[in-house]
Amino acid sequence: MDNVQKSINALRETLRHHEHLYYVLDAPEVSDAQYDTWMRELKALEDAHPELRTPDSPTQRVGGKPKEGFAKVPHSRPMLSLDNAYDETELREWDRRVHELAGDEDKINYVCELKLDGLSLALTYQQGRLARGVTRGDGVIGEDVTTNVRTIRSVPLSISPAKLRASGLPENFEIRGEVVLPLAAFQKLNQDQEAKRLAFFENWHSTPHKPGAKVPRRKNLDPFANPRNAAAGMLRTLEPNIVAQRRLDFYAYFALSEQGYIFARQSQSLDAMVAAGFHVNPQRKLVHSLDEAWKFIAQAEAMRESLPYEIDGVVLKVDSTAVQSQLGFTGRAPRWAIAYKFAARAGTTQVRNIVVQVGRTGKLTPVAELIPVAIGGTTVSRATLHNADEIERLGLKIGDFVTVERGGDVIPKVVEVQREKRPADARDFSFPAQCPECGSAVVREEGEVDWRCINVNCPARLRESMLHFAARSAMNIEGLGEVMVNQITEIRLVRNLADIYQLDEAALLSLKRIKKKTAQSLLQQIERSKQAPLDRVLLGLGIRFVGERTAQFLADAFGSLDSVMQASAEDLERVQEIGPRISMAIREFFAVPGNRELVEELRAAGLNFFAEKKKTSSKLNGLAFVLTGTLPSLTREEAKKRIEGEGGSVTGSVSKKTNYVIAGADAGSKLDAARKLNVPVLDEPGLMNLLDHGKIEG
Ligand code: IVH
Repeated sequence: MDNVQKSINALRETLRHHEHLYYVLDAPEVSDAQYDTWMRELKALEDAHPELRTPDSPTQRVGGKPKEGFAKVPHSRPMLSLDNAYDETELREWDRRVHELAGDEDKINYVCELKLDGLSLALTYQQGRLARGVTRGDGVIGEDVTTNVRTIRSVPLSISPAKLRASGLPENFEIRGEVVLPLAAFQKLNQDQEAKRLAFFENWHSTPHKPGAKVPRRKNLDPFANPRNAAAGMLRTLEPNIVAQRRLDFYAYFALSEQGYIFARQSQSLDAMVAAGFHVNPQRKLVHSLDEAWKFIAQAEAMRESLPYEIDGVVLKVDSTAVQSQLGFTGRAPRWAIAYKFAARAGTTQVRNIVVQVGRTGKLTPVAELIPVAIGGTTVSRATLHNADEIERLGLKIGDFVTVERGGDVIPKVVEVQREKRPADARDFSFPAQCPECGSAVVREEGEVDWRCINVNCPARLRESMLHFAARSAMNIEGLGEVMVNQITEIRLVRNLADIYQLDEAALLSLKRIKKKTAQSLLQQIERSKQAPLDRVLLGLGIRFVGERTAQFLADAFGSLDSVMQASAEDLERVQEIGPRISMAIREFFAVPGNRELVEELRAAGLNFFAEKKKTSSKLNGLAFVLTGTLPSLTREEAKKRIEGEGGSVTGSVSKKTNYVIAGADAGSKLDAARKLNVPVLDEPGLMNLLDHGKIEG
């Protein structure tokens, strides 16, 4: 085999191995940077040799665009749905029927699996390679979403013959399973969606329009209602890059071949898929009785809130495929399986009142105060109404009975008004014209959905700013939590963030129920926070759009708060992930005199305005190298990479600024130049020593 092909194969194997470790086993062994490096190397090789590119190469996960829409594809056999059981009686009734139909000579075992709340998908593999991914559609005909499915990292693009053999799967087979969007990704997605929506408004406002023009509603910028809708949208997007960025996940629960069942038992089928490299939910159990199944259900329900994705029940499947065949199907569902559905995480209750909360940015959020109701194990007494438009859309009045849901988002929301139950004394809610906290006027900019308090000194804003400033990811002042901040702002012990550093024991002891010890430990925490590096300070200031990542990039790029404050729009936009929107927000923040004063007060209080020294290895930081001749083991490219990896730079010609010349066999004029300019010359072992131990002092 030709060398290039060999390198390509090796890289692909390596990448697949680490993808499996990362996405399926959740146990990565190398850094993301290392993974990216291998991926880039493979891309480069494939770009140089396009004839060697194959559709199952890891580089092909971010594929081209599906040209238009999705082709309709019939399923090899129908994708059925499941009958549901909503309580123990219904479940036992199903179990009784199973035994009756199966005849009692066979002991029936069940496999218990979680019922993931996503979308079902059928993957076809030919010769061990992913050939097609099709949505459920109407169960008979689905849509070909292969391009998007390829971007899902836990879907193997190909399975090596060795793995196939070990798993017991044939060369051609079909895997069915569920696509889900993990909750963390869902929350991030909605945050991004919100940022995009704001950017759209900002952009709209900064371009001229006819007087009275209304900002258009952008449906595609609305937040997603739940992870399943978001996953469905992604799977059917015509922009595969979007899918790639959004970390959909796939859990396999069925394997079949053209002949039908491959294995004698569903539990074997699940194990085989694990062996072949599929993501199979580890929360599964083979049980020998319904009592045992019932225990599994109780455990699943208990862990529901702590799982990283949404589930809506447990699926029981008869383990033996022979018994499955014997039981067969009703019209739309198999008799050998049932979905036990958890009680919906929705409830009905009455709206006692609607109050308005003020956020850190002055945004007013209407909140429904509810007669407490238990939903999915927690008592809900408040639910967000998002904004004034939402109240209108719901047609909500104070006193109404409403349906409250706890979705993938942690904050419960009112999803529906139960009109038929409206009491005679239900009354309209009118949005306040004044800030409920400080009485200042509230404004709603044309086209914006949110009303805002315009008073920068609004105590509610200060309270929220303080909580943000003290948060663990920012200044990490433990003890400055909600209760303490409420008390401090209530009696106006502080006017702004800098006043936190003026607090003393006497002031704190004037608060209700604060003991000497608590006060002292809080003061210690506050003192300690002065050492927090620049990125945390930047985050703590609460600049619009500046989250953890952006703060880190800014700190890395500028090194000090003063440099950030002095930076021009261009300077800022040179930084990773910062565009005009964020750069404008930063510049606007520091243009406000009050904010500048705040910075000066924080400086006077002794805060650290400098970035942390980079922790990444930088043994050769600032050193310039020139390579010449052939080194005994390293190629020129490898040597360059190693040097740059430690923070050094490699240039083409020797000058007074060159720190080292690395010379191998047949070195030419560069070696002469080095000698002339008195630049130290090292051989390969010398370079290695330098790479291991850093600069040779003296
Ligand atoms: S078995 C014929 N197993 O639930 C068997 N389905 O309500 C059909 N689902 O369309 C599917 N987790 O999208 C099965 N472990 C699991 C499942 C599961 C989620 C979904 C699937 C199906 C729906 C039926």
